[in-house]
Amino acid sequence: MTWHKIAESEKELFQNNQSIIEIEVAGKSICIGKHQEQLRACISKCPHAGGNLVEGQIDALGNIVCPLHRYKFSLENGRNISGEGYFLKTFPIESRNNGVFIALEEKKGLFGY
Ligand code: FES
Repeated sequence: MTWHKIAESEKELFQNNQSIIEIEVAGKSICIGKHQEQLRACISKCPHAGGNLVEGQIDALGNIVCPLHRYKFSLENGRNISGEGYFLKTFPIESRNNGVFIALEEKKGLFGY
């Protein structure tokens, strides 16, 4: 896992009071959601049929709701709360004194090197 600094502060990320934003980190499109002051990060495309999750919403329980077919996913662990059997890739995200960081798996070559 490699931690990437994505902003100096949460304020810098969420400038217009949105609850979900989309950013690019190391070539990956990632959605960052904010629910009850907690940051959560997931891949930006819905695992069902590629809906743009940044256009979805976060429900009262902190699940992300896809705008296309309204499947719901936990932003904590990627579980498909509405029960269709998909899995949303999530990423660790931390707000620290020196910025906001997100952890991505490193790309490994053949044999894990
Ligand atoms: S594309 Fe997201 S629920 Fe179908």
